[in-house]
Amino acid sequence: MDSSLTQYRNLFPSLQTHTMLANCSQSALAAPVSKAITEYQESLLQKGGNWDEAIERTEKARNEFARLIGAEPEEIAVLPSVTDAAVSVASALSNCKKKQAVYTDLDFPAIAHVWKAQADVTLSVIPSDEGMIPLERYETFITDQTLVTCVPHVAYTNGFVQNVKQIAAIAAKKGSLLFVDAYQSAGHVPIDVKEWGVDMLAAGARKYMLGIPGTAFLYVRKELAEQLKPKASGWFGQQKDTAFDLTRFSYADGAKRFETGTPAFISVYAANAALSLLNGIGTARIHKEVKELSAFAYGYASEKGLNLAGPPSCEDRPGMISIYDERASETAALLKRQNIICSPRHHVIRLAPHFYNTKDELAYAIDQLAFAHRRI
Ligand SMILES: Cc1ncc(COP(=O)(O)O)c(C=O)c1O
Repeated sequence: MDSSLTQYRNLFPSLQTHTMLANCSQSALAAPVSKAITEYQESLLQKGGNWDEAIERTEKARNEFARLIGAEPEEIAVLPSVTDAAVSVASALSNCKKKQAVYTDLDFPAIAHVWKAQADVTLSVIPSDEGMIPLERYETFITDQTLVTCVPHVAYTNGFVQNVKQIAAIAAKKGSLLFVDAYQSAGHVPIDVKEWGVDMLAAGARKYMLGIPGTAFLYVRKELAEQLKPKASGWFGQQKDTAFDLTRFSYADGAKRFETGTPAFISVYAANAALSLLNGIGTARIHKEVKELSAFAYGYASEKGLNLAGPPSCEDRPGMISIYDERASETAALLKRQNIICSPRHHVIRLAPHFYNTKDELAYAIDQLAFAHRRI
């Protein structure tokens, strides 16, 4: 472990008793995040609530997420989940003339569900090869009829990372909008929405962003946001002066118009503390550490004879290793009894380290996994 990062391990109490390797699902809880959750609870217990403070924390969280992805705060909406972000985007694009949405078979199912629910939209699904998508495939599948192209930055099943900047260039050339699902990358892979030319991007708090369920963020490029009129809207998406006036309807400026009702404040407090911790450390440092850990895990798991899924190169797989396992849920339950927390999906076990993990922890989890495979 990078010695300058060692100090942060102490911030995660569960690391003393558990091997926490499910950051692709839920990260370990950091002490400052836990403290922020308590602060919200205390505001209810001791002060009978504090709306203004909760709104202030929401604005801080918005600012921190904007900083994480290189955006302006007014380009960020605070929403309950990534699925809600995709629903809002679909609702905003429903008035467009073009009616084709493209997504990939590596997307999280929610993306498909949202688009399948849009009755008048035709769908085109980009297939992957062995868990990866060659860039040329975007040239073929995105056409001048495509309204929006949805891509995962990092695939949830195998950690495959895509070159969003190049995909954005193809989408722009064909006249398609680009929606990036960054839930598996935000918090450990550096993101620069401006440099990459991304139109829209969503990520939630509870995975590599060190938060808890209930908060997600949607980035919408300012000029684009101002042109869109989401049908999924509500009083938080209105200009402030119309918030309590049911006779008026006036979208808020920028991405805020994608917001609907009261945020899950307890989760927003957590997200703010978590993002402030991440931004304080810096994604570049975190990325370097996580990549090294996942490269080590890949090598060690191969040595142990485990059958690995997805990209063989560390460059294409910065934060996760994925191991074939026909009885993945059963194996994960077995490991959990030994306080090893990993994440099963379909027929794979995902080991997803964060900057606070060590090679020893990964080696221990992989040894136990290899042992479980021999037993089950
Ligand atoms: C890549 C990705 N996108 C979207 C989701 C769904 O997120 P939410 O439950 O916030 O809608 C997940 C959840 O695991 C995910 O891994």
